[in-house]
Amino acid sequence: MDNKVVNGTTIAYQEQGEGETVVLLHGFCGSSAYWEKVQPLLAEQYRVICPDLRGHGSTDAPMGAYTIEQMADDIVGLMEELGIEKYTLLGHSMGGYVALSLAQRYAFRLNGFGLIHSTGYPDSEEAKEKRLKAVSTIGSEGITSFIEGLVPGLFAPENVDTLTEEVNRVKEIGYKTPPQGASGAALSMRERIDRRDVMSSTTLPLLLVAGESDQIIPLERLFTTEGDNVMKAVIKGAGHMSMYEAPDQLVAVILDFLRKMDKAEH
Ligand code: MLT
Repeated sequence: MDNKVVNGTTIAYQEQGEGETVVLLHGFCGSSAYWEKVQPLLAEQYRVICPDLRGHGSTDAPMGAYTIEQMADDIVGLMEELGIEKYTLLGHSMGGYVALSLAQRYAFRLNGFGLIHSTGYPDSEEAKEKRLKAVSTIGSEGITSFIEGLVPGLFAPENVDTLTEEVNRVKEIGYKTPPQGASGAALSMRERIDRRDVMSSTTLPLLLVAGESDQIIPLERLFTTEGDNVMKAVIKGAGHMSMYEAPDQLVAVILDFLRKMDKAEH
């Protein structure tokens, strides 16, 4: 694990491989470890950087509410520190919200971007209530109990009892989330704005990856745009966690996207 100080915040990241740069952003209560089955395969052909977002993993977890914009600024700053001017950015779930904010304001940094089990929609009123409940549960019961409740719902119902090793691994990663980091991030998601227009107006290559049985973000909340620049894929037999439920399918989709981008450029 390496790190860089960006605007006074230490941002940790894992780096592997050489070539054009691909940045992978994890979701809520995850870390760069979420990509452990994906990063080595992509790194055979690309330079792959997996940061820990603010409040997660080994990155700083300041107290208080975060914003999605702040998390995107952390990534922009990290990439500037690394001297990488252009990259392809793929975000899982909350990481996708961060990718959209970055694409909205720093499109000139991107070769393309993508959402994996994520959405351009903001939180509904009901979801906003749930964020407050999450913060209160984390405060009263602690992060371990919160993660125990959260993780099974991330997997496709049919995978919860069969992929026990993977479910336990995702819990193990989740337990390490600093409680103030999980709360700060939950509040950032609560306040995020509608960014479907970023998806519909971009001319950059855009990858949208949905899980066939995602109980958190159903396909129709992701596939909100069409266009020659948009590549859509549905991962069979996966819920919200294809990087654990079907990593080979996910890697094949990402490589297909990256290769099409490479061809279009040359
Ligand atoms: C995530 O996996 O990042 C979260 O489930 C996203 C969300 O709660 O909106």
